Amino acid sequence: MLKTFIQLLGEEAPVLRRYLWMTLAYGLLCGLTIVTLVPVLTHLLGSELRSAAQWLVVLMIGVALCWALRRTVEKAGIRVGIAVLQGGRHRLGDHVARLPVGWFSAQNTARLSHVASQGMMEMAQLPAHVFTPLITGVVTPVVILVALFTLNVQMGLIALVTLPILFGVFAFTAHLGQRADQSFQHNAALTSQRMVEFAQAQSVLRAFNGEDGGTQFLEQAIARQQQSAKRLIHVSAMSVVFNAWAVQAGFAALLVAATLSLGEQVGANLQAGSVIAVIVSLLLVSRFIDPLLEVAGYSEVLRGARGQLEAVRGIFAVQPLPQPAAPQAPVGGSVELRNVSFRYAEDQSEVLRDISLRIEPGSMTALVGASGSGKTTLVRLIARFFDVTQGSVILGGVDVRQMSSEQLAGQISQIFQDAYLFQGSIADNIRIGKPDASDAQIMEAARQAGVIEIIERLPQGLETPVGEGGARLSGGERQRISIARALIKDAPILLVDEATAALDAENQAAIADALARLRGTRTLIVIAHQLSTVAMADQIVVLDQGRISERGAHSALSTEPGLYAHFLAQRRAAKGWRIAGASGSEGGS
Ligand SMILES: Nc1ncnc2c1ncn2[C@@H]1O[C@H](COP(=O)(O)OP(=O)(O)OP(=O)(O)O)[C@@H](O)[C@H]1O
Ligand SMILES: [Mg+2]
Repeated sequence: MLKTFIQLLGEEAPVLRRYLWMTLAYGLLCGLTIVTLVPVLTHLLGSELRSAAQWLVVLMIGVALCWALRRTVEKAGIRVGIAVLQGGRHRLGDHVARLPVGWFSAQNTARLSHVASQGMMEMAQLPAHVFTPLITGVVTPVVILVALFTLNVQMGLIALVTLPILFGVFAFTAHLGQRADQSFQHNAALTSQRMVEFAQAQSVLRAFNGEDGGTQFLEQAIARQQQSAKRLIHVSAMSVVFNAWAVQAGFAALLVAATLSLGEQVGANLQAGSVIAVIVSLLLVSRFIDPLLEVAGYSEVLRGARGQLEAVRGIFAVQPLPQPAAPQAPVGGSVELRNVSFRYAEDQSEVLRDISLRIEPGSMTALVGASGSGKTTLVRLIARFFDVTQGSVILGGVDVRQMSSEQLAGQISQIFQDAYLFQGSIADNIRIGKPDASDAQIMEAARQAGVIEIIERLPQGLETPVGEGGARLSGGERQRISIARALIKDAPILLVDEATAALDAENQAAIADALARLRGTRTLIVIAHQLSTVAMADQIVVLDQGRISERGAHSALSTEPGLYAHFLAQRRAAKGWRIAGASGSEGGS
């Protein structure tokens, strides 16, 4: 737990160390101050008023010091909290910025945003509000324990045995609570996922289930969440009761021991000193138990925050892609894969197997293959979303692992299947490709990508806001804007994941035109779904279950029986169906 804090705090970690030492000193001082009650009471009960008064002064000084130190400790705890909120967020951000692009799945992004907002807030409050009572709640009883030993060995022994038993009980209940908590968090996450799905998929759900149908998955998720919530409440309540019982049982054992030794003293010839010792130790016992009760209460709170700490630790545990010590600059737009194999996780099977492929600068390559054959993965490896498991990816003569991330970024532009647009105008979205682009350059890219036809229809032209995620535009329009964005970047290699959805004829033609215009000006690698695109390519690479099964020009491959011939037949059939069906459009998907 502290390790995660130190990771979050980075060079600010001394703030935490100072706070921890201070809290430790505070706990010791509190314990010692309570222990001065022993001489005060002993002298008082023995009618040595002068000595009692002297010790009383010591006690008062101790109380005053404790009070002052408590405020300093609180301030130090708050300082740690602020450092977590300010520096911790930055450090988490810096770490995340170095993670492989491939890490940013929907699930990881959701987890990250939760940690950065709510998680950080919860963690920042831990030192001042939870660590301080917890640490003092352990240190103070230990000091009292030592004093108990000197007063009455029997009671000291019982207290000594009580401590580990109590901490064992706390750890056990915390473990039970943690399991219930994990299951609750898991079910809560599932429910919110289902909730979003339910909202987003309304059209589908209503089409298939009628007006009030489609709630079944959501209802199941809510039921499961309710069940785990009930269990969590049950376990939490039981833990609190059980912990309190354990502490009280320890207290009872100490009381019994005190009574027994008092009885012994009475049975013998009543020594005033021993009786006083027993009475004073009874007082100490109550001061021994109080902080432990507090610890029992706080361990519940701590368990809640642990989930957040785990999440932060999980994110820090993801290794950034290693950066080369001496980066080498790529030259030209060639792409080469040498014996590349790749798996997404150690426990998963290989998605790409022993792929070797050379792509000449300025040529156009079309990747085709069944769904799941590894096309997107291959393109992701070229852009170093992940590092290959085996083999190497070489761009412009240099292994991608030997380039700095800036050099790699300068080498590649990308057009994704589901083009994401940022909130802002169409011009803003194109300018992301080259922040210092002039208006004329933006217009030129817009023209090349077929965006001109879109903006002519819009009253605000290039300055039209696209809406969140580009919601005000159609899928084809979004893709055309993302093509303009990729074009203006002017990198030697362009990776394209062509839209699979059947685009309307106008959009499809605009995209095909843009690709045709780009042919020869840069290295084009296109995951192709449209017949027009594959026919344009210099070479076609057919992937089958992670291997290259066929490779060659359209003219050569189309005459041989094989996967490519099969692909062509399928596309032609789809096209024929569309023409015969209704629209008569040229769209084939
Ligand atoms: N992030 C991921 N984690 C684990 N496995 C993945 C991940 N992404 C893809 N896969 C798996 O890798 C294999 C290849 O997927 P990939 O997306 O590369 O296929 P594709 O050829 O692009 O398919 P499609 O035509 O449907 O887009 C599939 O079996 C897929 O389930
Ligand atoms: Mg794909």
